[in-house]
Amino acid sequence: MIKVGLIGAGTMGRVHSAAYGRLANAQLTTICDLRPEKAQKLAGPGVKVVTDYREILEDPEIDVVDVCLPTYLHKEVVLEAAAAGKHVFCEKPIALSIEDAKDMVKACEQANVKLGVGQVVRFFPDYAKVRDLLATGRIGDPKVIRTSRGGSFPRWSEDNWYGDYTKSGGPIVDLIIHDFDWLLWLFGPVKRVFAKSVGKQETPDGELLDHALVTLRFENGIIAHLEGSWAQPVGTPFSTSFEIAGTKGLYEYSKEQATPLLLRTAQGEEMAQFVPESPLALEPYTAQLKAFIEAVVEDTEVPVPGQEAIVALEVALAARRAAETGEVVWLGGEQND
Ligand SMILES: NC(=O)c1ccc[n+]([C@@H]2O[C@H](COP(=O)([O-])OP(=O)(O)OC[C@H]3O[C@@H](n4cnc5c(N)ncnc54)[C@H](O)[C@@H]3O)[C@@H](O)[C@H]2O)c1
Repeated sequence: MIKVGLIGAGTMGRVHSAAYGRLANAQLTTICDLRPEKAQKLAGPGVKVVTDYREILEDPEIDVVDVCLPTYLHKEVVLEAAAAGKHVFCEKPIALSIEDAKDMVKACEQANVKLGVGQVVRFFPDYAKVRDLLATGRIGDPKVIRTSRGGSFPRWSEDNWYGDYTKSGGPIVDLIIHDFDWLLWLFGPVKRVFAKSVGKQETPDGELLDHALVTLRFENGIIAHLEGSWAQPVGTPFSTSFEIAGTKGLYEYSKEQATPLLLRTAQGEEMAQFVPESPLALEPYTAQLKAFIEAVVEDTEVPVPGQEAIVALEVALAARRAAETGEVVWLGGEQND
């Protein structure tokens, strides 16, 4: 039984603690939050509550540290957890700079502990399924992709750290990174990036909003257009969608639809709906942590290792730079296309 200490009992801490309750081979033993009442709310019988995360790092019984802290605090805690010999699961984005992310990966490698990063979209059933479907060739060669993801500005944290982009990275780094990671997993390296963003705006009634559009050109020639929104009216349900257009057909997905994933062929004659996952299937956050814990138990590669999270962060930071400068940003390789 793998024993887990959870650091950060906010929105994601709540999701992760519920997930551990569904796993047979992991036991959440300690929850840390600066606000003990938040940790206490999540703690089941026998789960210890602490306010200093070092108590988790110093506990010899704990094998895995799960970091659900605001993004700007990831690095420090991951470095300390590695030094304490704990395997680490860290929420996404791994960090806010490549330098920090590399330090985190290096520290975990040197300490010989695993580092998994919460790029959870790979565990959303339709997003995962389409990867298998692409391998069947039914839509021919994928050429043009569209994704969208968004809702209202994240305003749940007491200190509004999401509203400080030096702490959250803003929507391109915090939100669209989910689609960057998924597309990199599907289609490989990105060659160049362009982006436009309205930037953080304050409405007359004091609400924040932001909205960004990113285009990616992949090494293999695929073009993707990604939309990320923190600009929907307060209370708007979070929504996601994608379209993958190939030479022979199209996969369409929208979270809003009852049968979210559809295939349309170029002739429009053939349509296939993919049955939604069984309600008994593990929800994505649980599936993600289950896969991570299994990798720890079996000493195999974790899903979304730190190195892959760095590549997604590189694309995100390039997109943010493109939005800030109005310039195309090239990611390695030749600037010839
Ligand atoms: N995978 C996803 O879909 C997803 C969704 C939302 C957020 N996230 C990521 O999860 C991370 C956490 O985001 P959140 O929305 O849960 O934040 P949050 O603000 O809701 O929760 C953070 C918690 O950390 C606590 N905290 C802050 N400093 C601390 C410290 N030094 N010691 C102990 N506790 C401390 C706060 O009191 C708070 O309860 C971020 O990196 C965010 O980008 C991922």
